[in-house]
Amino acid sequence: MNIKDLYIDFFLSKGHKKLNSAPIIPENDPTCLFNSAGMQPLVPYLMGQKHPLGKRLTNFQKCFRLTDLDQIGDKTHHTFFEMLGNWSLGDYFKDESIRWSFEFLTEHLHIPVEKLAVSVFKGNDLVPADNESADIWKSLGIPNERIAYLGEEDNWWSPGPTGPCGPDSEIFYWSSKEPAPTKFDPKDERWVEIWNNVFMQYNHKEDGSFEPLAHKNVDTGMGVERVTAVLEGMDDNYQTSIWKDIIEKIEEVSNLSYQDYPKEMRIIADHIRSIVIISGDDAKIVPSNTDQGYILRRLIRRMIRYAKKINIDINSDFDIELANMIIDKYKKYYPELEKNKEQIFNVLTTEKKKFARTLEKGLREFDKSIKHLENDKIDASLAFKLYDTYGFPIELTEELASEHHLKVDTEGFKQKFKEHQEKSRAGSKGKFKGGLSSTSEMDIKYHTATHLLNAALKIVLGSHVHQMGSNITPERLRFDFSHDSKMTDEEKRKTEQLVNKWINEGLKVEKLEMTKEEALKTGAEAMFASKYADIVTVYKIGDVSTEICGGPHVKNTKELGKFIIKKEEASSSGVRRIKAILE
Ligand code: ALA
Repeated sequence: MNIKDLYIDFFLSKGHKKLNSAPIIPENDPTCLFNSAGMQPLVPYLMGQKHPLGKRLTNFQKCFRLTDLDQIGDKTHHTFFEMLGNWSLGDYFKDESIRWSFEFLTEHLHIPVEKLAVSVFKGNDLVPADNESADIWKSLGIPNERIAYLGEEDNWWSPGPTGPCGPDSEIFYWSSKEPAPTKFDPKDERWVEIWNNVFMQYNHKEDGSFEPLAHKNVDTGMGVERVTAVLEGMDDNYQTSIWKDIIEKIEEVSNLSYQDYPKEMRIIADHIRSIVIISGDDAKIVPSNTDQGYILRRLIRRMIRYAKKINIDINSDFDIELANMIIDKYKKYYPELEKNKEQIFNVLTTEKKKFARTLEKGLREFDKSIKHLENDKIDASLAFKLYDTYGFPIELTEELASEHHLKVDTEGFKQKFKEHQEKSRAGSKGKFKGGLSSTSEMDIKYHTATHLLNAALKIVLGSHVHQMGSNITPERLRFDFSHDSKMTDEEKRKTEQLVNKWINEGLKVEKLEMTKEEALKTGAEAMFASKYADIVTVYKIGDVSTEICGGPHVKNTKELGKFIIKKEEASSSGVRRIKAILE
């Protein structure tokens, strides 16, 4: 049985309800390009909002971490991974959480206690040591020497600088064939972390103090790839059942062996899986030069370069064959992959066509140019030429350079990129055409209109209104927000009137950059501030709206035209959905 099924069945038997995996593209957090942890889509509920499915939840979540991209190629890193989680929203706490983790690992995954160790928070000036968790572990048979007390860097978790947070307890597995030492040394890499139980029991206040929370939550996370490797006794995730057939296929099409080309084959295997998951998401991401589209482009182009490196005929259907295998493997868990199959194939085929034509020439240009370098640095002009003429993302040029022990003038490249962007914008009379941005003028208008709508709803319906999701096409905007009942005609009319009033007032839209802390202090609206972004962009519209948001937006609300609500309906329990247009 698959670990995901085992896990979900176990927590269903403990009174949990199963949530579907949220899309990999967050629907309610403009500060984050991808969901990077199982708890991310649940933050509003961990903050106190009532969840329609109750207080005990479990799922497996599609996650993507770009931070790991440079490390792909080793045995354990992946850009896409799946995270198993169980949550208590003000229900059970440390006792059940730890007991169930222990029961699942020892009785369902049959891991011997001798191979387990744990860490707990050792305490600091503000918060005491988590002896409670340590005592529960001991009562289950984990000896004292197998419990490490560690500091904030290891055993403290929070989704943002303020708000709910708390100590966590991590569970480690002895991965070596040698007998496990009596004493747990967290620095010994043979101890592999497999599960994290976070106990959100404090509210971190603006003044820096920690106040005990009335509703304590549990948030746990266990990586599917890692736990699979552990159970199958592999120290290389890419040799587990998750990847075996994919790697074999890559061996077959390249006619080379994994033993000789592990790095290249892991990169291809990792990237094709992420490409399938991202392009198969209902958000319909396509390769572009901004945001998620840019990441998708980088993944595809990098995969193609590595395929070429190991002699795969990049004009063959190797990528489609691999994509098909991934779809078959995951469609049971993520049915959208089957539904969006054509979309995935189109993305791959179109992007490959674009890049395959210029890759060869670009590589030749690169090789030729580095022969004549005056120092060990690739200058901005060459980096920009590789980007503009041959479609090399700057990160690809950097990677090529480092393979030749060279550096790249990345700052200079960025400057050139900006100049080029400004020129091409001016050239298209303020329109964003092709090339440098995939966002259309209408998309941008709808984006700004969405902020106005959010602000208007808060005034008309009340401050409980929060954005729960948003989707924009050049034809309309769709906005999901927290609100319990159907809007009356009067409420809809008032909302429209307010938005149109602000449009007619010609309010200035300002873009500001600040630290996340500063943004939250200004009261900027955000579902939550991501754990990973430190500097955020805030868009301020006159005095009516301040939101953390990546943009882009119009310069002045008068560009929007007339705002009309077309439809107001239920989206899910406690969430309403508005579709609106601009005329
Ligand atoms: N949210 C916790 C983590 O990502 C479980 O480690």
